[in-house]
Amino acid sequence: MKNDIEKILFTEEQLKTRIKELGQEISRDHANSGRDLVLICVLKGSVPFMADIMRAIDLPCTIDFMAVSSYGRGTVSTGEIKIKKDIETDLIGKDVLIIEDILDSGLTLSYIMGLMGKYSPASIKLCTLLDKPERRKVPISPNYCGFTVPDEFVVGFGLDYNEKYRNLPYIGVLKRSVYEN
Ligand code: IMP
Ligand code: MG
Repeated sequence: MKNDIEKILFTEEQLKTRIKELGQEISRDHANSGRDLVLICVLKGSVPFMADIMRAIDLPCTIDFMAVSSYGRGTVSTGEIKIKKDIETDLIGKDVLIIEDILDSGLTLSYIMGLMGKYSPASIKLCTLLDKPERRKVPISPNYCGFTVPDEFVVGFGLDYNEKYRNLPYIGVLKRSVYEN
């Protein structure tokens, strides 16, 4: 697994520190809202991020999960999105915070945010661990962002290539030789 990594972008320690900061920022912003906060994790890539950020948020909140598919086996989005698992929480009048691993073209997130909007929440915000702004195809920007990354394919800490590398504790750039054969 490690031999397939070109370079490490963010170590376990850097991720931990930054996620704690994000959690504090979110806690500050929502402390006096008087509304319920719901964290929605987009499976599967956001699982490690969700596990850390939920423990860094010092406020009462509930969690839920949704699964969509936008990528086939490759490294570039097809733009086609399917819901594989919907949320189970009633969002009416609540503050929704979507927890995502990476904002790339933005197609997945704009679709998910549009969908959540139909459930009549009081607000919808987006929290992404990584942002690749160079690749954006639709105008969408995160309310909370861990790190901005260059236009390279990254894996680890939940992020996959063909479902692999999710269990790496750090985030690194995948060697091109792994997917260009
Ligand atoms: P978007 O719809 O193009 O913004 O795609 C977002 C999804 O694509 C993310 O949730 C990831 O699953 C996947 N993705 C985008 N870029 C990368 C990457 O560099 N590594 C791994 N997965 C990625
Ligand atoms: Mg993926």
